[in-house]
Amino acid sequence: MNNELVSTWCNLNSSVPSSYVHPEDKRPANSIINTEEKIPVIDFGGHDRAHIIRNIISSAENYGFFQVINHGVSKELIDNTLNIFKEFHAMPVDERVSETSKDPNGSCKLYTGSGRYCSDVARYWKDSLQHPCPPSGEFMQYWPEKPLGYREIVGKYTQELSTLGLKILELISEGLGLDPEYFNGDFTAKPVVISHHYPPCPEPGLTLGASSHKDPNILTILLQQEGIIGLQVFKDGAWIPVQPIPGAFVVNMGFMLQIITNGRLIGALHRVVTNSTTSRHTIAYFINPTEESIVEPAKSVISSTSPPKYRPMTFGELKWNFMNKGPSFAAELGDDIKSS
Ligand code: OGA
Ligand code: NI
Repeated sequence: MNNELVSTWCNLNSSVPSSYVHPEDKRPANSIINTEEKIPVIDFGGHDRAHIIRNIISSAENYGFFQVINHGVSKELIDNTLNIFKEFHAMPVDERVSETSKDPNGSCKLYTGSGRYCSDVARYWKDSLQHPCPPSGEFMQYWPEKPLGYREIVGKYTQELSTLGLKILELISEGLGLDPEYFNGDFTAKPVVISHHYPPCPEPGLTLGASSHKDPNILTILLQQEGIIGLQVFKDGAWIPVQPIPGAFVVNMGFMLQIITNGRLIGALHRVVTNSTTSRHTIAYFINPTEESIVEPAKSVISSTSPPKYRPMTFGELKWNFMNKGPSFAAELGDDIKSS
């Protein structure tokens, strides 16, 4: 499996192997791109809390996405973390495999080409490293120890992202009139970090770095490498490219937050396109609940005029349905966001 890592063979190919070629209607070359529109940018450095909250809520309602600047995580820590992940993906493949094989239960994963859904018919042009992170401290013993400093740097980064994530969720709770403690505890207990490496691709029009998907979790905070556009968000029938802003994070609502808010905030569809010249690295920090957490519309957002649109289910069930039914699961639940 691991010798299939895209990074180990992609330099040898001048075309995309057929297993990576996506059906015509899913290819980036055949889709509508909207370069006019931009994902909202929110400045957390401002002192007008009410203004920040209003911006978060309207971005989450209209796009399901925003970028955040002046968020308090230092540029130095961000750069060090991105660099350590880049170095990881550049290590010899045997070392990458041995550094990610310490947990017999497989909490740390190195994988490739993986889509979100069982219904995916083609593979994806990326390699990913994934593992749980604080507060699930017990997993740190299984993290890579190479490159040197990995645990220290990634530990600090994920700790700070946990704080930032809770702050964003607190602002969202305030904006929606949820209990300020709503997201503390089980709903945010199982965060996961994924370092994605999208190598250069000889035919970017035919394949994708990541499927058109919604994240099933609560919230995702993504760091994009500067200077390369890859992420696109689906809105009003077209794909909006998310322009990287140095030092900024891209924040997106997961489908679980859509359910909790009874459909008010949207877990938007997004995907990743590749390019032919440069490797692209991103760090996705997923705020995940425990598997047993019950996902349902919050009591304070439902009323006789706004009845629940979604039935209660555990997060484990939500994830299973996402994987096995794909985008049709969201539709089954009454989600009206058209897939592409
Ligand atoms: C994800 C994701 C986007 C990117 O990991 O769910 O959407 O640009 N990543 O890596
Ligand atoms: Ni995603």
